Amino acid sequence: MGLDKNFLWGGATAANQVEGGVLEGGRKLANIDMLPYGEDRKKVSAGEMEMLEWEEGYYYPAAEAIDMYHHYMEDIKLFAEMGFKVYRMSLSWSRIFPNGDDAEPNEEGLAFYEEIFKELKKHDIEPLVTITHFDVPLNLIKKYDSWRNRKLITFYERYAETVLKRYKGLVKYWLTINEINILLHQPFVGGGIVFKEGDNKEEVKYQAAHHQLVASALATKIAHEVDPENQVGCMLAGGNHYPFTCRPEDYQEAINRDREGYFFIDVQARGKYPNYALKKFEHEGLTIHMKPEDEQILAASPVDFVSFSYYSSRTVSAHEEDYEHTTGNIFGTIKNPHLLSTEWGWQIDPLGLRNSLNQMYDRYQKPLFIVENGLGAVDVPDENGYVEDDYRIDYLRQHIQALKDAVEIDGVEVLGYTSWGCIDLISASTGQMSKRYGLIYVDRDDKGNGTMKRTKKKSFDWYKKVIATNGEEL
Ligand code: BG6
Repeated sequence: MGLDKNFLWGGATAANQVEGGVLEGGRKLANIDMLPYGEDRKKVSAGEMEMLEWEEGYYYPAAEAIDMYHHYMEDIKLFAEMGFKVYRMSLSWSRIFPNGDDAEPNEEGLAFYEEIFKELKKHDIEPLVTITHFDVPLNLIKKYDSWRNRKLITFYERYAETVLKRYKGLVKYWLTINEINILLHQPFVGGGIVFKEGDNKEEVKYQAAHHQLVASALATKIAHEVDPENQVGCMLAGGNHYPFTCRPEDYQEAINRDREGYFFIDVQARGKYPNYALKKFEHEGLTIHMKPEDEQILAASPVDFVSFSYYSSRTVSAHEEDYEHTTGNIFGTIKNPHLLSTEWGWQIDPLGLRNSLNQMYDRYQKPLFIVENGLGAVDVPDENGYVEDDYRIDYLRQHIQALKDAVEIDGVEVLGYTSWGCIDLISASTGQMSKRYGLIYVDRDDKGNGTMKRTKKKSFDWYKKVIATNGEEL
């Protein structure tokens, strides 16, 4: 009984939410650097408002983020102190290929990450690297219309091949594209897509998705060729849908909504388009351009494991308009009367995590990896900067218990667990610093004020004990 002794405990971040230094070391701007703080963030994220330059009167939180670009040694030391076995991080695409279409990579960018991997190795921390976490070099958006264009496959492939070769022996666990299904919900965040007049939006999104899926399969193929030891995963914004009632049409709606996300993972894990998606294209008259060789590319390189983020479940109905809604992780959802919510309206559902693990394991029969889970909350530090975040400990405890139940009672295979935002960072959906996930507090506010000082929270010591006991003591 108990979790495997090699279970990978750790934490997760993304370049754009922690690094800052967006114009340092030869890096150039990316889509994600263009997301302003405030009201317009939503429209820009959705591709409904074009913002391809920094504009007067806006604050762009990613520009400095928590300045990990200059603090990574200190941060890794803290992760090591917690006993991390794995650290999930992403590379910034435009730090390595500043324009995206450059013939040669930026050596300074490559060297920066090499330093990080070496530092992690010193502490016996395995890196889990997301090749792209919500980023596309801005030049690729301006010049090629981003992932709408098939050329993006080639640019991504060149980027993936460069990093896979360069970090051979330093990195073994890879994720090709973060929360790939977000492309359908926030097309600018997930794929640098800005809509134009007259666009058939569904067609644009699924065309971009096809390009990403082919690119992801090519990266998986290269990863295996470069080093057979490499383990490559896909990554889903997870959380299943409950029917609000037992009316059959509500259940049908829940199945359909689950499939919006499963669509991507079905292709990445099974190597071919599911029939329901092909039928959708047919019935809705969507023309998705595919090359004859694509089928073979997808079939040849399914992923080795399936990873996902989990914050909450969602509730749906065939009669959505009849119910009160709340906000989920980017997706809206009907308010589930049986669940409590976070301060941001995300519904807390640890059993939903166990159910998701079971559903995905039944469907894919591949090892799973929970690469994001955590509580975004307002923290109020005392005069020494210390936060007693018992609410976060409770959330994590319940979710880790659910994970253990899935493994120990249901027999699901789980490789590891990385808590999201192990150090406070910029929220992807809102751009806030005040929506904190960290086990480490960072002195920085929503407007960019603060010293950037790092302070351990109460959850830091709690998580350290969880890792030390391999999840026995929660
Ligand atoms: C996931 C993303 O959507 O959830 C992260 O992969 C993000 O980038 C996380 O930060 C939490 O969401 P938010 O909006 O609270 O930052």
